[in-house]
Amino acid sequence: MRPSSTTFLLLLLLLHSAAAVDVPTPSPPSSSTSSTLDPKQVRALQSLYIPTTHDPCTQPSFHNAATCDTGTPFRHLLSLRLTNCSDDLSLSTTALSSLSTLTSLTFLDCHVPIVHFPTSLSTNLRSLTSINSLQRLTGVFLSRFGNLTDLNISGDNIKASGIRIITSNMKSLTTITLSNANLSGLIPKHWNPKLTHMDFSGNRLSGTIPTSLTLLESLKFLNLSSNQLNGEISTSFGDLISLQNLSLSSNSLSGSIPGSISTLSRLVHLDLSSNQLNGTVLRSISEMKGLKYLNLEKNNFHGVMPFNLSFINKLDVFKINGNDNLCYNHSSISKKLKLGIAACDKHGLPILPPPAADEPSSSADDMSSGDYDDDGGNDKKKSGGDHGPNKVVLGVAIGLSAVVFLIIFLVILSKCGGRCCCC
Ligand SMILES: *[C@@H]1O[C@H](CO)[C@@H](O)[C@H](O)[C@H]1NC(C)=O
Ligand SMILES: *[C@@H]1O[C@H](CO)[C@@H](O)[C@H](O)[C@H]1NC(C)=O
Ligand SMILES: *[C@@H]1O[C@H](CO)[C@@H](O)[C@H](O)[C@H]1NC(C)=O
Ligand SMILES: *[C@@H]1O[C@H](CO)[C@@H](O)[C@H](O)[C@H]1NC(C)=O
Ligand SMILES: *[C@@H]1O[C@H](CO)[C@@H](O)[C@H](O)[C@H]1NC(C)=O
Ligand SMILES: *[C@@H]1O[C@H](CO)[C@@H](O)[C@H](O)[C@H]1NC(C)=O
Ligand SMILES: *[C@@H]1O[C@H](CO)[C@@H](O)[C@H](O)[C@H]1NC(C)=O
Ligand SMILES: *[C@@H]1O[C@H](CO)[C@@H](O)[C@H](O)[C@H]1NC(C)=O
Ligand SMILES: *[C@@H]1O[C@H](CO)[C@@H](O)[C@H](O)[C@H]1NC(C)=O
Repeated sequence: MRPSSTTFLLLLLLLHSAAAVDVPTPSPPSSSTSSTLDPKQVRALQSLYIPTTHDPCTQPSFHNAATCDTGTPFRHLLSLRLTNCSDDLSLSTTALSSLSTLTSLTFLDCHVPIVHFPTSLSTNLRSLTSINSLQRLTGVFLSRFGNLTDLNISGDNIKASGIRIITSNMKSLTTITLSNANLSGLIPKHWNPKLTHMDFSGNRLSGTIPTSLTLLESLKFLNLSSNQLNGEISTSFGDLISLQNLSLSSNSLSGSIPGSISTLSRLVHLDLSSNQLNGTVLRSISEMKGLKYLNLEKNNFHGVMPFNLSFINKLDVFKINGNDNLCYNHSSISKKLKLGIAACDKHGLPILPPPAADEPSSSADDMSSGDYDDDGGNDKKKSGGDHGPNKVVLGVAIGLSAVVFLIIFLVILSKCGGRCCCC
């Protein structure tokens, strides 16, 4: 006990001295090695209502984080993040000209109409993010940021005839998010082969998924959900060897799931829900070792659901309801799973119409395993399905024996009377 408390004390002392070393540092301007922010940029920040009482390079605030280079005689801004801006904020081209050293610019919940971005800034930027922020965005405006590697726009309407207008000059993009932006038109065919992340969810994109997307060997994340895409899922999807998360949900995709999908060895998240996919559900999906999320609900799959309990239990999320012609083998899958599909008859056809449409879909936590619960039209109903009465009997038994015990105890006590029984 003594050594551990000594260790604890030592630890405290160490922590304390570490804190003590940290304390005397917040006087950066006095230090000869670090210079202050360029006064021109200080004025630009002030015009954006960013408080500059503290040097933003050394004391970034949570709402308006900045990073700076280590230049002399003045430092310059490299990145700037504006969060929850004042309603009075308006961008000005003059202020933005002073900020053209920025390579990364982020607006979060910062509702502000766009202005002309000087060329010096638009060619310098590598990363542009606007989440529920920039207003009156257009394709032409965005197309001028030709050196971007990361473009991330979500929740802001973009007026453009299609995505191609925006991205055709962006040869270095490695991540692109244009989601909930009211974009229509087709998905462009040509992309930087190094693209790792593509999210066009929540738009009005139409047409088919270009087969050329499957050339993107570095693509880890693809989300095209909630659009109006049609056609089939190309068999060459199996070429997306880096893919980890794939969502094509809520479109009008048809045909069957290509078998090559199950060769995507890094896939953890597969969401094909709310389409018009048909055919049988691929058994080989259950051979995907890393899969954690599988959503196939609301399609037109038919036949016997091919997954066993050990696979389903391994998943964090499994949804398959809303496939009227699909059924599960009730001699191997418990009814308690509440899959939202009917049990199969001996021909592999659904016995009953599937349970209520809004049946809660199952998640791994509410699954009991290995329960043979024959039901649904099958006459060989197993007995003792309901364990309620057994519990009541047990409770009564325990109660009774307690009473008996008490009586015996009282009798012994009274018999002993004044004598000392224990001696
Ligand atoms: C922005 O402000 C709103 C309301 O004042 C607050 O609820 C929200 O948490 C803020 N967001 C951030 C990222 O600070
Ligand atoms: C990218 O930046 C270079 C200078 O770093 C510039 O010459 C070029 O015009 C920029 N490209 C685009 C498309 O803006
Ligand atoms: C886009 O920006 C949001 C908000 O900063 C962030 O959570 C998200 O990860 C970004 N997406 C990408 C692909 O960087
Ligand atoms: C989306 O864009 C269309 C025109 O393409 C327009 O009519 C519609 O109002 C826009 N929707 C929203 C919510 O802005
Ligand atoms: C795809 O985008 C939708 C809508 O933005 C979102 O709800 C869903 O979680 C995303 N899927 C993945 C795999 O990130
Ligand atoms: C699946 O749908 C496609 C087109 O939507 C159709 O041609 C095909 O016959 C369907 N297959 C089955 C097994 O229903
Ligand atoms: C990918 O999917 C996994 C599993 O559903 C999830 O935990 C993770 O957040 C997803 N990644 C992204 C970038 O959405
Ligand atoms: C369940 O299915 C997986 C994949 O198809 C298989 O590897 C495993 O042996 C099966 N387990 C049982 C208990 O049948
Ligand atoms: C259901 O499973 C049992 C044993 O696991 C098997 O004998 C039977 O053929 C299966 N029924 C169907 C319709 O696949």
